[in-house]
Amino acid sequence: MCGIVGYIGEEQAAPILLEGLSRLEYRGYDSAGVAVYGGGAMQVRKAKGRLSVLDGLLDHGKALEGVVGVGHTRWATHGAPSDVNSHPQVSRSGKIAVVHNGIIENYVQLRSFLQEQGVSFVSETDTEVVAQLVDYFYEDGRVDILEAVGRCLRRIEGAYALGILCADASDRLIAVRKDSPLILGLGEGCTFLASDVTAILRHTREVIYLDDGETAVLTREGARCYDHLMRPVEKAVSHVDWETDAAEKGGYEHFMFKEIMEQPEALRRAILPRLRGGEVVLEGFGLSDAYLRSLKKLYIVACGSSYHVGMVGKYNLERLLRIPVEAALASEFRYMDPILDEGTLVVVISQSGETLDTMAALREAKRLGARVLSIVNVVGSSIARESDEVLYTWAGPEIAVATTKAYSTQLAVLDLLGLYIARRRGSLDAGTCREVLEEMARLPEKLEQVLSRRDDIQYLASQHFSHSSVFYMGRNVDYALGLEGSLKLKEISYIHSEAYAAGELKHGTISLIEPGTLVVALGTYPPLTGKTVSNIQEVRSRGGQVLAVTTESHREDFSHAAGAVITVPDTHPMLLPSLTVAPLQLFAYYVALMRGCDVDKPRNLAKSVTVE
Ligand code: F6R
Repeated sequence: MCGIVGYIGEEQAAPILLEGLSRLEYRGYDSAGVAVYGGGAMQVRKAKGRLSVLDGLLDHGKALEGVVGVGHTRWATHGAPSDVNSHPQVSRSGKIAVVHNGIIENYVQLRSFLQEQGVSFVSETDTEVVAQLVDYFYEDGRVDILEAVGRCLRRIEGAYALGILCADASDRLIAVRKDSPLILGLGEGCTFLASDVTAILRHTREVIYLDDGETAVLTREGARCYDHLMRPVEKAVSHVDWETDAAEKGGYEHFMFKEIMEQPEALRRAILPRLRGGEVVLEGFGLSDAYLRSLKKLYIVACGSSYHVGMVGKYNLERLLRIPVEAALASEFRYMDPILDEGTLVVVISQSGETLDTMAALREAKRLGARVLSIVNVVGSSIARESDEVLYTWAGPEIAVATTKAYSTQLAVLDLLGLYIARRRGSLDAGTCREVLEEMARLPEKLEQVLSRRDDIQYLASQHFSHSSVFYMGRNVDYALGLEGSLKLKEISYIHSEAYAAGELKHGTISLIEPGTLVVALGTYPPLTGKTVSNIQEVRSRGGQVLAVTTESHREDFSHAAGAVITVPDTHPMLLPSLTVAPLQLFAYYVALMRGCDVDKPRNLAKSVTVE
């Protein structure tokens, strides 16, 4: 997730672009850049690091002449943070500058195509493909720039918001949106484009929301918009009355809520580019098939919520691979003298890529001769750099301390990894793999359905926010989810909470149940729903209150047993946790809100835990 801003008007563009980018820095901050057309040339300045580095280089923008330009603050997805990988990306002729949010899924094929035509690339980014492809179709001005962009759009696949500046047509900017937000701002004698309204609020509150597939041509007088077939469309102008703080949160009250709601889009980014022809495709994956076939054991090592992802992975991957898969807490793993050798793959999971315990576990695993694959959100982070192999989650920056969208994308990437290895080892047939992947592609939409029913969960939270203790129980993947649901609740609402494997109830925990005790019972995993219903009855017969979460097809069974039931759509059993986690996140969020807690910054916690 990056930030985009563009300006065309009568004032010097660079200071406006830099100021706009500063409002977007919370979205991505490993590098930044601007392209401004002025003094008869395209001027591009980029710098790795925080925006302040670029700002200093350009004397707050005063050093760059010109009244039209685009700017970008980057959160790396393809290619490490560096000057060369920063945006704007410029075509070989130097005439086309592009800023981009999102992912071009077929960039590898397009890059090969362009290389065959003699185009050489300077960066590792998917964005450069767009700049080069527009240039390729532009053919040195033989085709109008809008036509060249249109031809490019017909070739690229994926999710993108684009801002395009052409040196030969500096009286306009081109904006394109597909599955990645982009708005236009209409000012007095100037027009803007931006990925978030925050970037332009100081200049205008009159905006046009582009819809998917739409393209716009911006001039200083305004904007003309076109649909996906380049037919002109009339767009409504909306007035924004948010203050900047609310705008950063996309109009939501908290980052946590925004990030919960962003999960379908984050899942799309994590999953869709990795599916092709019924198989998982991991671009540039360095672990050979022979190595994957030789594996004897997998360890999944992480902390906190990332460890809970590992717990789900233990169930799912063991079933897929038919070799032992263990989930271990990184803080324990590093001191437990684990038995590892070259037949063990250690998968470390970390949103931040900087968690010290996880880092230490990674080093210990390497010291003992295992190979390490990491699943990480922050590109170029320490864990990513020290691992033998990395799979990025592409969730975008996560600001709230309590993780939500990073958890969901970690889960999706771990499932993809399991399916990929299982196919290499022959423990999964092509037909079943295809079926699971088809279901996986539907997850974002199903998750949207779950999130759209958030009012029901808010209502349940209003019934239960005053408990002093809440228990979670479930079996198999539902047990792993219970751990996550319980952590979410306790860390942001400060309610004491514990999670148990439901079968353990009668081995001790049941003594805690007294009239009124709240138990959240997770019963989605189809082979074991009946068992969970029995556990619910045990709780209810001791006066406990039960809030059950199950699938739509099991609603009846649970509504007889539990006081309240939340359902999620049916899907392949291994994918259920990706849906079930959402009501748990929302429940924790609403409860914390009703208790007046600081949801985004819970006491005593930090987003990145770099101490032991
Ligand atoms: C809980 C939470 C933490 C992190 C844990 C690991 O909501 O966010 O439990 O999951 O501190 O952090 P990463 O994934 O950055 O290594």
